[in-house]
Amino acid sequence: MPRTPASDSTTPQTTRRQFFDQASTGAAALAGVALAQRAVVARAEDAPAAAPAVHAGGSDELRVALIGCGGRGGGAAADALSVADAPLKLVALADVFQNRAEIVRRSLGEQFKERCDVPDERIFTGFDAYKQAIDCLRPGDIAIFATPVAFRVPHFAYAIEKGVHSFMEKPISLDGPSTRRMLELAPKAAAKNLKVGVGLMCRHCDRRQELFDRLRNGEAGELMDFRGYRMHTPAQSMELFPGPPEGMSELLWQIRRFHGFLWASGGIFSDYYVHHVDEVCWMKGSWPVKAEGLGGRQIKAKLEDQNFDNYAVEYTFDDGTKFFYSGRSLKNCDQKFGVYGQGTKGAFTISTSGHSPAKPVIYKSQRMEKDNILWTADQPEPNPYRREWEHLVAAIIANEPYNEVVRGAEASLATAMGRFAAHTGREVTFEEMLNCPDDLSAGAELFTADSPAPVLLNADGAYPVPNPGKFKYEYRDKLPGEESA
Ligand SMILES: NC(=O)c1ccc[n+]([C@@H]2O[C@H](COP(=O)([O-])OP(=O)(O)OC[C@H]3O[C@@H](n4cnc5c(N)ncnc54)[C@H](O)[C@@H]3O)[C@@H](O)[C@H]2O)c1
Repeated sequence: MPRTPASDSTTPQTTRRQFFDQASTGAAALAGVALAQRAVVARAEDAPAAAPAVHAGGSDELRVALIGCGGRGGGAAADALSVADAPLKLVALADVFQNRAEIVRRSLGEQFKERCDVPDERIFTGFDAYKQAIDCLRPGDIAIFATPVAFRVPHFAYAIEKGVHSFMEKPISLDGPSTRRMLELAPKAAAKNLKVGVGLMCRHCDRRQELFDRLRNGEAGELMDFRGYRMHTPAQSMELFPGPPEGMSELLWQIRRFHGFLWASGGIFSDYYVHHVDEVCWMKGSWPVKAEGLGGRQIKAKLEDQNFDNYAVEYTFDDGTKFFYSGRSLKNCDQKFGVYGQGTKGAFTISTSGHSPAKPVIYKSQRMEKDNILWTADQPEPNPYRREWEHLVAAIIANEPYNEVVRGAEASLATAMGRFAAHTGREVTFEEMLNCPDDLSAGAELFTADSPAPVLLNADGAYPVPNPGKFKYEYRDKLPGEESA
């Protein structure tokens, strides 16, 4: 019997939601943070000496270390430092490439002069850099993880060991084994009273929350089906030809081109589509019990990565409701980006292009036209990338429970189901995906500069790629270790 995943892990973090329900504007949100700060002061005065303080180091400052200084890492750190009236200071940067950290230091230093203090000695490079950056923090400080997902588990585990709060970019797992490891870490973080945010920022979007409430109130009727689209031109960073530049190892090259390699990112399906899968599952209130999928590669690249350029996945929820997802990564085709649904009373838009603003809408019937709108969200929308940080920091300051790990891991697993189904040509249940032994990022915690890359070019100069119907797993029949058995 397929397990129906606990639907409460798809619902928002209620304590945070309640706290911020009144705070739908930036000003109100900041008032919320200030309130949270007052609550902590009161708690600190009343509390016995052993009660958890805002900061174990005894100072108000919350130090921040950024691990993974790329586009999103810099963005997440900027969002963190933008939380008003909160004493955050960026103190350490870690990346496998030295220049990445320096770029982030320069740009954040210009933007947040008072909130950046990253001297050369707190810039760390290499596969152990994350440990050195976290070692610059005190218990109760914050680590941001914005590397490709392959490294999420070991990095998060170290933050827990060191008593540091975490913000982890999505996805946070990419297959069964990494999801199981994440699910084991979640209670360990909670047991140490650590707060953990996961970068599924759509869950922190006030307008989507309003849509969720209206759907729960039955404004669209009974929810019958959902569909999502992410169709656009391939990202520049997908190009693999002609291979690593002079002096760069194959491993570092695959990390730089992480969207092309399943071990590093779960491919574009996991890395790009997780937001849409998560948004739909939130609105639905459960995770899918199974996925079936199609996909293929239209365009033969000179050096092919491990993605398909077309995906079509049919997810089924336990009540039979469907969620159809279409992904396309091709030039010169129509572009489409958004998630939608249909209820017995009317259709609705959950979100549209670029994740934010979401512009959710409920229609009076199935006709999705401007003259048929029942409700649409007020504009402008608070930025969900900022809101997720306001929520996390408020929880840290107020010392309230805050742990998005289970939900983040389950959203990542539900996404992996679609990818696995399309790549293998076989239906997969939630339970089967969770228990699938193919450990794509195995050994990532032990990488050194000299480690071989997890996938290598074959004698024909090609990487192993999915081929539906051919392999037991996505691109192989035997797992490492089984080969010699
Ligand atoms: N929430 C969102 O909307 C959103 C948007 C973009 C990216 N992301 C996520 O953020 C993560 C990073 O994406 P990006 O677009 O910033 O990629 P990127 O390549 O720009 O940045 C990743 C950085 O991590 C570094 N890195 C890789 N492995 C490392 C390791 N073991 N230790 C230290 N540093 C390491 C890389 O050198 C690089 O600088 C991905 O998981 C992605 O899915 C989330």
